[in-house]
Amino acid sequence: MNKQPRKSPPVPSQPNFVKILHCLIIISLFIMIGSGLQIYNATPVFGGKSGWSFPQWVTLGGWLAGGRSWHFTTMWVFALTLLIYGIYILLTQRWKRKFFSEQDLKALQVGKNPKRRIYSWHRLIYTGIIPVLILAIFSGLAMYKPAQFHWLSGLFINWQTLRTIHFLTVPISLLFVLVHTIMGIRAGGLRLTRSMFQP
Ligand code: HEM
Repeated sequence: MNKQPRKSPPVPSQPNFVKILHCLIIISLFIMIGSGLQIYNATPVFGGKSGWSFPQWVTLGGWLAGGRSWHFTTMWVFALTLLIYGIYILLTQRWKRKFFSEQDLKALQVGKNPKRRIYSWHRLIYTGIIPVLILAIFSGLAMYKPAQFHWLSGLFINWQTLRTIHFLTVPISLLFVLVHTIMGIRAGGLRLTRSMFQP
């Protein structure tokens, strides 16, 4: 019998522009988290001045003012990258092809193909992090300029709730990075992961 060599599936290709934005979001997210934890340590959200704090090695900035400088400078990179990505996926209609869709919902509800189901989970997870990152920006803005954005701060009930919600975006983002990395590998192997990082 004539055995044909198995053809491997085509390497997924991602636009360079998306790869750059994806990298910028990863780098700026980690700077935001490290500097945010530095600011947190000055007055812990849970338990006040003598409350529960983070070890120095997970923080960035050295002291409160250093943490604030990193946080408020990187905030621009983080927010502008997300804004540019949002405009890009709307203009190119990329969100229709790449984000969680009705077909994904069907695949998860009644689909029998395990590969397709994993891919749909993967898409659901990275689609779901976008509102969390937007919440991180808006809750941060509400604390950064509470006088100018009093209407925004008012939406969060009180200051402690606002701080808690802003803080919770940290563990959610960290958990997301872990699950998203694993799901990316499960959905498309290292080839898919490489496709998002290799120039
Ligand atoms: C740190 C925060 C991260 C965020 C917010 C994030 C978000 C996203 C988003 C929104 C997409 C869809 C992009 C598009 O196609 O337009 C995506 C795709 C992807 N991400 Fe991430 N990502 C992050 C970190 C990572 C990490 C650390 C890895 C792997 C080590 C990774 C691997 C991938 C892969 C492989 C895809 C391509 C998915 C596909 O085409 O099916 N991401 N990510």
